[in-house]
Amino acid sequence: MQLRVTSLPGDGIGPEVTSQAICVLEEIATGFGHDLELDEKEIGGAALEKFGKPLPDATIQACIRSQAVMLGAVGNPAFDNNPRELRPESGLLRLRQELGAFANLRPAVFYPSLATSSPLRDEVIKGTDILIVRELLGGLYFGEPRSIEGTSGRREAVNTMRYSEMEIERIARIAFQLAQKRRKKLLSVDKANVLECSRLWREVVTRVGRDFSDVQLSHMYVDSAAMTLVLRPTQFDVVLTENMFGDILSDQAGGVVGALGLLASASIGGPVGLYEPVHGSAPDIAGQNIANPLGAILSVALMLRHTFHLHKEAECVEAGVISTLMGGFRTRDIAGPEERAVSTVEMGAQIAEFVRMAAGTYDREAS
Ligand code: IPM
Ligand code: MG
Repeated sequence: MQLRVTSLPGDGIGPEVTSQAICVLEEIATGFGHDLELDEKEIGGAALEKFGKPLPDATIQACIRSQAVMLGAVGNPAFDNNPRELRPESGLLRLRQELGAFANLRPAVFYPSLATSSPLRDEVIKGTDILIVRELLGGLYFGEPRSIEGTSGRREAVNTMRYSEMEIERIARIAFQLAQKRRKKLLSVDKANVLECSRLWREVVTRVGRDFSDVQLSHMYVDSAAMTLVLRPTQFDVVLTENMFGDILSDQAGGVVGALGLLASASIGGPVGLYEPVHGSAPDIAGQNIANPLGAILSVALMLRHTFHLHKEAECVEAGVISTLMGGFRTRDIAGPEERAVSTVEMGAQIAEFVRMAAGTYDREAS
């Protein structure tokens, strides 16, 4: 099978983790007999430095021509005072829009071998396996009008939370379909006691739910969901929520399972899938070869599954991550005080090596 992928390393630790993810993808292509066609382009601060804009046309074109995009991270404090359109983050938000990627899937799974990384007690965290389905193209991130206006000292800022029934319905359908393939539990998170957007959200999600009678739907306010996520994380299966709530809850879920660096994401719904680790550019540790590449590598697994429907290949990557963690390999963020930390490159090489050894043992026909 031909795999046409655009890689966008971006900023901070983005290039370091992306190159490990790409090594693993190359190993998968070789081991399972696929033809990988790679293109690399700039986004975010890296694109601002080179072209003066965070999402150059050449980057958009390359992404649209490919089937999937692997992104590292965007964000560079050097551009913090830029106007909004000239911030690195604007490049990513526009890319999500250009690709029509309205459904952001963020799995947060607890790995027993990382029991000491989670701040939660073993009996609370054991068995946690959550899929956050975050709406990615609506809400406060994109709503108009938006502005900061007025004279200094008397300025006013405006953002608009806006959702249409269509936008709610399409993300709800994806979440229900995913819940059908899991434990058939869907929790929709909103703030319907205060916000109109959330009232419409709850109404539409409930209506869509009638088409999925095998899925048990429940609703929770976001404040209560944030608390329950820490107190009883195993209670969650699929969590459906709007853009901003999903941004916040997914970082929290990273903390709950013990490592934001481990979280992967898939942004789908459009013609081209966008895959990126949930962590950001972490400028404070950039260039030191200490970042955790597992979020990026697990994003490759999501790409194999969601864009290419290569399930065996996705399982192989995930098995590589589990086996590497069981083997005691830890980057600094997940290493205990007594444990030796390995570098980004060493961690990536472990997974690549696993794939190299294991690929032959998978039954290609069954893939
Ligand atoms: C994320 C990030 C982005 C977001 C930023 C970098 C724009 O925090 O993917 O969670 O807020 O969506
Ligand atoms: Mg975020």
